[in-house]
Amino acid sequence: MRRAVCPGSFDPIHNGHLEVIARAAGLFDEVIVAVSTNYSKKYRFSLDERLEMAAETLASLRGIVIEPMGEGLLAEYCRQRGASAIVKGLRSSSDFDYEVPMATMNRQLTGVETIFLHAEARYAHLSSTMIKEVAGLGGDVSDYVPRAVQRRFAEAAGAAHD
Ligand code: PNS
Repeated sequence: MRRAVCPGSFDPIHNGHLEVIARAAGLFDEVIVAVSTNYSKKYRFSLDERLEMAAETLASLRGIVIEPMGEGLLAEYCRQRGASAIVKGLRSSSDFDYEVPMATMNRQLTGVETIFLHAEARYAHLSSTMIKEVAGLGGDVSDYVPRAVQRRFAEAAGAAHD
């Protein structure tokens, strides 16, 4: 069983994430989408909401498991889950510069490898931060996020107008 972990905040999950997860699912028997919590970070969506949005969106893909990652070391989480690789998307050279030191540290900690999948050009500008800003200011993000996320943004906008 070749198992990989796709870690992230997924606050919220967007089409760039989906594309990388789907490609990872084609390379591994099982992909764990590990939704992180960092108590020093302020999230737009709760952990339960982030898990639900990922689960609703990825329900049709085979070989995907979605679970909370907890607060500990990613390398240790991978070791406990029997995952030999971390899969991450790379959008730009600044992603590369940011990710390679972490990949090196993770490998030195437990031997886990990191595999980078280049983002498709149409998704290379996407980030959860930008999507939250556009949606929060009333912009249309329907080309960038799955329905489960669109629905939550719409609910939040509706609640704001109540
Ligand atoms: O979507 P994000 O917020 O960029 O995801 C970041 C994540 C979860 C991949 C990163 O914060 C992480 O690896 N956290 C685990 C803590 C850890 O292992 N730190 C040492 C890394 S060398």
